[in-house]
Amino acid sequence: MLKGKHIILGITGGIAAYKAAMLARLLVKAGAEVQPIMTPSAREFITPLTLSTLTGKPVITEFFTANTGEWHSHVDLGLWADAMVIAPATACTLAKMACGVADNMLVTTYLSARCPVFAAPAMDLDMWAHPTTARNIAALKGDGVAIIEPAAGELASHLTGKGRMEEPEKIAATLADYFRKGTQLSGKKVLITAGPTHEMIDPVRFIGNYSSGKMGFALAEECAARGAEVVLVTGPVALKSNSDRIRRVDVVSACDMLAACEKEFEDCDMAILCAAVADYRPEVKADKKLKREGREELDLRLVRNPDIAATLGAKKGDRLLVGFALETDSEHENALRKIKNKNLDWIVLNSLRDPEAGFGKDTNKVTILSASGKEEAFPAKSKREVAADIIDSVFGKGIN
Ligand code: PMT
Repeated sequence: MLKGKHIILGITGGIAAYKAAMLARLLVKAGAEVQPIMTPSAREFITPLTLSTLTGKPVITEFFTANTGEWHSHVDLGLWADAMVIAPATACTLAKMACGVADNMLVTTYLSARCPVFAAPAMDLDMWAHPTTARNIAALKGDGVAIIEPAAGELASHLTGKGRMEEPEKIAATLADYFRKGTQLSGKKVLITAGPTHEMIDPVRFIGNYSSGKMGFALAEECAARGAEVVLVTGPVALKSNSDRIRRVDVVSACDMLAACEKEFEDCDMAILCAAVADYRPEVKADKKLKREGREELDLRLVRNPDIAATLGAKKGDRLLVGFALETDSEHENALRKIKNKNLDWIVLNSLRDPEAGFGKDTNKVTILSASGKEEAFPAKSKREVAADIIDSVFGKGIN
């Protein structure tokens, strides 16, 4: 999986920097081309000579080499890389990454990199547990950085706790797994719905809900990263998608969303319906802004919207259909009923009772249930990680 891949290995100034030599060796042995970038303080822990000998490439630390005047372009490096892994990642470098402090070659290259970025934190237990670090880690996860969690054990300080950089073998396996998944959905077309729908009352008012689109966009990014061709049918949201494998179709109302989904579903292999679709719409949309003068009350008559999931479910054939259930009570019962009524293969249950789940949050906490009765509950994770759990579940890892 790593053969021929271009990997930037970022090394920062912590005692675990010595393990970076082993990581470099494993990646090179697996056929990857590895470009080491060290921060100045990393060079205090391990010599550049070790890294350049193992990788066969000169180690880069500065923006240019003083004696030759050679310029190292962080932009070119960012474009060259298929993946970037920062191991060890100190609390300081993680903070700089989270805030975009581009004061060294490593963080500057990180900002230029279009490839997936992995960070393997290493620090003392109290630094790892500090709320500042937790905030930075959450921000980086939100930015799409894959955090390879540190392990617990005896630390360089002789204290015991969480903070040890994960073993090089596991980091290399995580990268190999990423490249394996990168082709997992090749040749598949996936339809995803995201965001809210707006049901217009008049030209300036609507009935809507708080969906931000974050969960649906994370699913789209994850499917695209695994090689799928994605059609993202989204209600009105303020988000952008980066992948050129994602074709975005903007809609406003539930009826618009249904029309777009029916058209796209024809040649799809799978649909994931994450949108928070309004169940009702005003029967009549006023052509002009409704005036309040002379009106003490306003009656709005609502009519039922089509059920997009049930419509696609009725004609799904051998396509996979994954729905969401957003509940406030009787969560399980309602999710199971929706699987049946909408003819879904899987449903992702999230509850508004859960503070880490739901509208607008960067995290979600889900239970994934299948039509065949399987079920797995996951802890709270970033929406991108939840998206990965959903795809893993549907395609055979986990609860199949
Ligand atoms: O967008 P975020 O801010 O990130 O928030 C994410 C989310 C909370 C919106 C998402 O995780 C979620 O739960 N989406 C589904 C919300 C919802 O409408 O759930 P529901 O239980 O009402 O609907 C069940 C399923 O039927 C859903 O797959 C829904 O897309 C679909 N549906 C519902 C009504 C309708 N008329 N047509 C539909 O297709």
